Amino acid sequence: MLSIKMQRSSIFFVLILITSSLRMIFCGTKIDGDFDDTYWYPLDIKVWTWWINGNVEISSKNVEISAKQSEFIKAINFRNNKKIEFLPIKVYKKLPNLNVFQAFNCAVQEVKYENFQNLAELQLVSLASNEISNIPKDTFKDLSNLKHLELRMNNIQTIHELSFQNHINLKFLNIGSNEISYISPTTFENLKELRNISMSDNTLQSLGDEHFKNNKKLERIWLQNNKIHILSPTMFDHLKNLVVANFTGNSCIDRLFEVNEDEFCALKVLGLKEIIKKNCES
Ligand SMILES: *[C@@H]1O[C@H](CO)[C@@H](O)[C@H](O)[C@H]1NC(C)=O
Ligand SMILES: *[C@@H]1O[C@H](CO)[C@@H](O)[C@H](O)[C@H]1NC(C)=O
Repeated sequence: MLSIKMQRSSIFFVLILITSSLRMIFCGTKIDGDFDDTYWYPLDIKVWTWWINGNVEISSKNVEISAKQSEFIKAINFRNNKKIEFLPIKVYKKLPNLNVFQAFNCAVQEVKYENFQNLAELQLVSLASNEISNIPKDTFKDLSNLKHLELRMNNIQTIHELSFQNHINLKFLNIGSNEISYISPTTFENLKELRNISMSDNTLQSLGDEHFKNNKKLERIWLQNNKIHILSPTMFDHLKNLVVANFTGNSCIDRLFEVNEDEFCALKVLGLKEIIKKNCES
């Protein structure tokens, strides 16, 4: 009898939490949203998720969530909302246990440290299809449990070489469909668990041995539709798990090195044989 009473009161407590979370507001603006128990691919987890409604607007920087703390909310989802121009700051004060942060297809212009500060439980961050042009070095600094980072389809031109330094658990990184022409050789050096990386549809010009030196578990590298013309012939030698490296849609790779073409153009490296030439300029 006692235990039944306790169960009832804890259900009641959860209901109070849900109702109070529904009244969360950003800077005086009422935030509406729906809650449900969403399954998150590819993390393979089902967590209590707050789906922010499309009429919510965030058009100024440094907006904080004003609500009571909700430790049971594990995911926040601003999706398909072109009125979200900035992400809220210091989210950890209200939602300290987030595993998932998704702002897919909004109009986010900038990201900074305060947006993801102290959210050390985050495993999935998706900011695909926004208007971000720069990833400052401390943006994702606190996210040491991050597994999946999605930054495709923005206007990113520069990624600071220390931006990914703390992601020792990252398995998937997508920086495809941006405007990146240069990646520092040390940018990925701490990503020892990385399996898949997409850098397709950028304007990258060169890659060397240093770029994937420490990513020994890499399985897939998508590099199609770039402007790569300088490539080290030995850059894949240590990648024993490589399944595919896709170079389709790069116009010419300058053969400034002596290379055993059959070895270099093994089947798993797609589209490379066609574009290796001597002296691309002529
Ligand atoms: C890597 O990509 C393959 C093919 O798309 C996919 O099946 C696999 O789940 C991905 N792994 C990770 C860790 O993202
Ligand atoms: C390689 O890239 C081309 C061009 O984007 C694409 O059509 C093809 O499906 C890709 N193949 C793999 C295995 O990634």
